[in-house]
Amino acid sequence: MKLPGRLQQITPYQPIEPFEVVSQKLGYPIEKIVKLDANENPYGPSPKARQALAELAYPHIYPDPESRALRNALAEFTGVSAEHLIAGSGADELIDLLLRATLEPNEQVMICPPTFGMYRFDALINNGQVLEVERVNGFELDVEEICRLGELKQAKILFLTRPNNPDGGMTARETLERILALPLLVVLDEAYIEFCQEGGKLGERQSLIREVKQRENLVVLRTFSKWAGLAGLRVGYGAFPGWLAEAIWRIKQPYNVNVAGTQAALASLKDLDCLSERVDWIKAERERLTAKLAKIPFLKPYPSQSNFILCRVSGRDAAELKAALSASGILVRYYTSAGLADCIRISVGRPEDSERLLAVLEAMI
Ligand SMILES: Cc1ncc(COP(=O)(O)O)c(C=O)c1O
Repeated sequence: MKLPGRLQQITPYQPIEPFEVVSQKLGYPIEKIVKLDANENPYGPSPKARQALAELAYPHIYPDPESRALRNALAEFTGVSAEHLIAGSGADELIDLLLRATLEPNEQVMICPPTFGMYRFDALINNGQVLEVERVNGFELDVEEICRLGELKQAKILFLTRPNNPDGGMTARETLERILALPLLVVLDEAYIEFCQEGGKLGERQSLIREVKQRENLVVLRTFSKWAGLAGLRVGYGAFPGWLAEAIWRIKQPYNVNVAGTQAALASLKDLDCLSERVDWIKAERERLTAKLAKIPFLKPYPSQSNFILCRVSGRDAAELKAALSASGILVRYYTSAGLADCIRISVGRPEDSERLLAVLEAMI
């Protein structure tokens, strides 16, 4: 049997190698590895979330297909009513679901690379086409081109990441207003919004999530993977306009969010002081690490409003630098894609993680 033609053209998504595999390859025990390659939270789940997991009462019972308790708690956290909220097995699942619910074969999905890789992947597996509007001048959106193509109705959906992955830059509010006036569905991925500079309550920082109630063409995606340290449990959520929420409920697998993830997410929402303090630690460490990386002659860090720092590498090969760091037990992200081949992305860890990284980098000067 042959693969269907459309699948032959799709390059499989290249995920980060699992911890155990890397540990075996490098010959380092897991606890000695400094993992700064997937923007995970180095502090892990909050104490209340760990306790909820330890005390899980009903893992033998299927979860609530409508995630009612979680959606009600999220309604309080975000200020968006539960009818607009859908929980998913990570934000990743929601990206796929919303494309499945909206795309007709060969319709175009606009993306603005360099950005998160799953938009392209999911657009292609859902029979769509990808329309790229490359970022300009050091990762800024090419707003004029987005608006030109948007007004021509060239694409049905636009994905925007705010702050963007991999550079950590924020799109200005005024720019978003222009884009939201276009005749397309805008999916604003706020996976890292909790780490942006402006303070305020965790659920609200510079977010557009509350606007989903008023706008028919805005989706906001969020996740518990980053700020709440639950990446391994796969819990994300999205705020959707009514018409799209209805379509997604029709096609969603019933038990998409498991009981462990649900309980850990609920407990995280009851442990906001603790998690908020950890987010502040990561933000402070981001600023400290950025300043130190700027002093390494072969690195140029970009200012970030997220939990990672993109660095341009000059005078040496970025792939070799990544390999040299790996050999010392320090994992960072390296990209082969155009425009990023001379970059590495470093997730912000604990101060002791930064010290290990800096010691290896300084020894290379
Ligand atoms: C921009 C962006 N969106 C979504 C995700 C995926 O989030 P989740 O772990 O909730 O699937 C990531 C993960 O790295 C990301 O960088």
